[in-house]
Amino acid sequence: EKGKLEPEPETQDNEPPQSEQSKWESDQMSSAVFRFGAKDRKAQQDYDLLLEDEVEFVQALRMPGSEKDRKHEHSPPPQVKALQTIQETKKSLPIYPFRNDLIQAIKDHQVLIIEGETGSGKTTQIPQYLYEAGFAENNKIIGCTQPRRVAAMSVAARVAHEMAVKLGNEVGYAIRFEDCTSHRTRIKYMTDGTLHREFLSEPDLASYSVMIIDEAHERTLHTDILFGLVKDITRFRTDLKLLISSATLDATKFSEFFDDAPIFRIPGRRFPVDIYYTKAPEADYIDACVVSILQIHATQPHGDVLVFLTGQDEIETCQEMLQERVRRLGSKLSELLILPVYANLPSDMQAKIFQPTPPRARKVVLATNIAETSLTIDNIVYVIDPGFAKQNNFNSRTGMESLMVVPISKASANQRAGRAGRVAPGKCFRLYTAWAYQHELEDNTVPEIQRINLGNAVLTLKALGINDLVHFDFLDPPPHETLVLALEQLYALGALNHRGELTKLGRRMAEFPLDPMMAKMLLASEQYRCSEEVATIAAMLSVNGAIFYRPKDKIIHADTARKNFHVPGGDHLTLLNVYNQWQQSDFSTHWCYENFIQHRSMKRARDVREQLVGLMQRVEMELVSGITETMNIRKAITAGYFYHVARLSKGGHYKTAKHNQTVSIHPNSSLFQELPRWLLYHELVFTTKEFMRQVTEIESKWLLEVAPHYYKPKELEDSTNKKMPKVTGRSRPDGTN
Ligand code: CDP
Ligand code: MG
Repeated sequence: EKGKLEPEPETQDNEPPQSEQSKWESDQMSSAVFRFGAKDRKAQQDYDLLLEDEVEFVQALRMPGSEKDRKHEHSPPPQVKALQTIQETKKSLPIYPFRNDLIQAIKDHQVLIIEGETGSGKTTQIPQYLYEAGFAENNKIIGCTQPRRVAAMSVAARVAHEMAVKLGNEVGYAIRFEDCTSHRTRIKYMTDGTLHREFLSEPDLASYSVMIIDEAHERTLHTDILFGLVKDITRFRTDLKLLISSATLDATKFSEFFDDAPIFRIPGRRFPVDIYYTKAPEADYIDACVVSILQIHATQPHGDVLVFLTGQDEIETCQEMLQERVRRLGSKLSELLILPVYANLPSDMQAKIFQPTPPRARKVVLATNIAETSLTIDNIVYVIDPGFAKQNNFNSRTGMESLMVVPISKASANQRAGRAGRVAPGKCFRLYTAWAYQHELEDNTVPEIQRINLGNAVLTLKALGINDLVHFDFLDPPPHETLVLALEQLYALGALNHRGELTKLGRRMAEFPLDPMMAKMLLASEQYRCSEEVATIAAMLSVNGAIFYRPKDKIIHADTARKNFHVPGGDHLTLLNVYNQWQQSDFSTHWCYENFIQHRSMKRARDVREQLVGLMQRVEMELVSGITETMNIRKAITAGYFYHVARLSKGGHYKTAKHNQTVSIHPNSSLFQELPRWLLYHELVFTTKEFMRQVTEIESKWLLEVAPHYYKPKELEDSTNKKMPKVTGRSRPDGTN
């Protein structure tokens, strides 16, 4: 059964890049140092003159492409995309020849695993094929999940364009806090989190005729939970087609999980990619990126560059540095288009990354690992991979969750390299040594479900009536401690009773697409008579993008502007203050500009706030505002975030209240020089150490009021709320702005 669906030719050529061990021993490991474009004397001279430092690479191995493509190895990168019509482009995708076979396979089987190289057309084409084949008749919807919001939005825009319809009509998308669909929508892209929540209102997914769980290999928490939920549904909704689509990883595992569902393999087309490593570790990888980009630009033939960075901050830093260097080099270089891609990228800027590069110019895309598999940008020939990604990690022993930059896995590194070989033979420059690749990187990335806090997932599952989580059908079960801890947290928050059943409060909390702590904070605000204010704070915290703008050349002005917003009590109240002042300015763009506030983030906060208020009304919360005492607001926050409490200990350090872990106030915080005895934080971010971001001063006795079953008076001794004398002259630790 399984073999039947696998198309015959070509697949063997398409082996995963490394048959590791043997390759490393036999392969040249040539010490041929790559000094960009040594052949091209003129360029080399210019380049030597222009750049004071350089990064030296050593070629180590080559990721094979397919035999068929190897013949064309020396043909120049095709710059054909711009000239192709939409129809031609669609027909040129690797998936196209398999259109009819694929539709037939979907008709023949209820569950199908689809495996294909990234960029082969799975995400954009399969829903269209299904639509054309009539799967959206009788007002049914073809659904397709994406782990990332930017991918959901941009893919929907692309498909709407291909189908020549307006986005939001026949083709739409839904992400948290944003629904761009209508009653006409037949193809709906959504984040996996959004579908997870849709189960609450439509447990049998009755609106859908097909559900595609796409980018399954990313193994996000929501995707993993969806596996169990959709598998269950197919048993009683025999008319629902289920497709699990993934890059060339894990297909067999998915097949086994879905009762040996057949695998449909789409043969990829890949060109070989030469891999280069640095001779020695790079101390500053952003600087190394900038230098490498310029080296490529000055000396390498046509082809765009893709750089993998860990987040918006890094991308912006890199962009600024690059722009500055390019400016200094003046007209000596041809045009370089620098385009960022990250999760909160505004939609007008998302479209730009896909526009074809003008002749003679070169495009540099600075992306997070969103470009690893979720988004395919055409004409990438060079990849620069510093080897890091931002990850949310959860310590189930301490219950501490923290965002940190970690080394990627070998599987990720190879996906990244593969992005260089889609249109022509490519080159991948790894900003780490061959030894580090071999000895320091894990083989695979650990699925999210095994390393993050499950509070939110458990709450949603409980709200779906799934009580026995230990026996839930997980592809890979979460660690038992993590599950227990999530249950304990929800119990302490009052969402579950001692039998582990959802309480009335828990049911209301589940109505909000928010972390349980934030949902609890919102609901608690009613009793503290400050629900309007807390809704604003929740919206400001949810925006997740920077509120304060801090351009490198105006840091002093920007920091002064920020300080003007500080109010006693801490960062949550400062965020509230920013929002209120903006509201008083009539939501003015100019006001934002003058005060170094990011207008985009504020607009988003306003949208989020509107939706939160809508949901608050749905759970019949009373909307109240206008209290003059900030204590109530801070108590409401504490009612949600009593887990995130730290106390001042000797030497001006903070320790978490329950587990005595050392944490520090983030230098950007309004309380950085204040050192209150007790405070709560919104989140922890690990850079040089564990930093608490968004902190608020609290009184320890409030903890007994809001979480009496979690804190005992003894744990909170020394609760005199006297402030420590101000400490002056504390410097900003490196790497934390
Ligand atoms: O899902 P898969 O990785 O197999 O491929 P895809 O995302 O469907 O990409 C197919 C083609 O659509 C690629 O050539 C992309 O560059 C293009 N695409 C685009 O032009 N704009 C988007 N927003 C998304 C994809
Ligand atoms: Mg895709």
